[in-house]
Amino acid sequence: MNKPLIRPRRLRRSPAIRNLVRETELNAADFIYPLFVVPGEKVQCEISSLPGSCHLSVDMALHVAREVYELGIPGVLVFGLPEYKDDQGSSAWDPASPVQRAVRLIKQELPDLTVITDICLCQYTSHGHCGLLNETSVDNDPTLSLLGQVALSHAEAGADMVAPSDMMDGRVRVIREMLDSQGYEQVAIMSYSAKYASAYYGPFREAADSAPQFGDRKTYQMDPANAREALREIALDIDEGADIVMVKPALAYLDVVRQVRDRVDLPVAVYNVSGEYAMVKAAAANGWIEERKIVLETLTGMKRAGADMIITYHALDAARWLREA
Ligand code: PBG
Ligand code: ZN
Repeated sequence: MNKPLIRPRRLRRSPAIRNLVRETELNAADFIYPLFVVPGEKVQCEISSLPGSCHLSVDMALHVAREVYELGIPGVLVFGLPEYKDDQGSSAWDPASPVQRAVRLIKQELPDLTVITDICLCQYTSHGHCGLLNETSVDNDPTLSLLGQVALSHAEAGADMVAPSDMMDGRVRVIREMLDSQGYEQVAIMSYSAKYASAYYGPFREAADSAPQFGDRKTYQMDPANAREALREIALDIDEGADIVMVKPALAYLDVVRQVRDRVDLPVAVYNVSGEYAMVKAAAANGWIEERKIVLETLTGMKRAGADMIITYHALDAARWLREA
């Protein structure tokens, strides 16, 4: 007789029982929504490589931030497209640049929304690299004080957290020291600690006009083949004073997320990046997948892998779907 003694299906019989035994719960409170702020006024222009996301002038960024807040999403991650670029990326620390203006306005109008800013130079440099150039490469050490200056300008605008994404060695420590020396001890650092040199950033670089004008980012972002190295990067950032560590991208790196979660007591963030988003949107637009189910399943997988928070372009939709569910 084929009579199993143990029947896992008993706990799958009804929605109520499935709810009781569910191990992972996805909430709007897990999400962070990226904003792309541009110069001008009344600009709300859909980004072709990121359908559903918009280039927003500062005034419109506030409207979207209000929507984010009202949906119960706790934070935004602000990126900027500047008015001018040069070889140093000096518009990155200009208090009149879109990021600084957007942060000031959002914190003034929505003080309870957590405002996180991306710290990097690639949107601001004429060459599109994340640091200063010397004759041969991206020059680590002279870049650090510039990153500190960018972080300070964001803190002065009112940012709750800064998120360095440049992958220069030692930047977390320099940013921490800069913030502390200027009285911003309370501003947290969410470090893009294990950031891979990934093809999944393609749509973002179009959206942020931040593609390198020559070469690639392989001398500073990590080799996708390496996981142990990610643990080392994470350990270094924790030593240097990071408050939250990040693995980026998410989907192709969930094994790394799990290993980090198992070894580290700090909160772990993942970045569900632009290419992951664009693939889902393209397949959904073709009617090949059910967007809503795919998105919620994918985000649940990221949490199950160990992420405490997920930076995602799906945040607004997913929060609405979770509310209806
Ligand atoms: C800037 C930065 C990038 C992303 C976040 N910050 C692009 C890059 O490193 O080239 C990627 C985000 C995404 O793809 O959604 N350094
Ligand atoms: Zn960069």
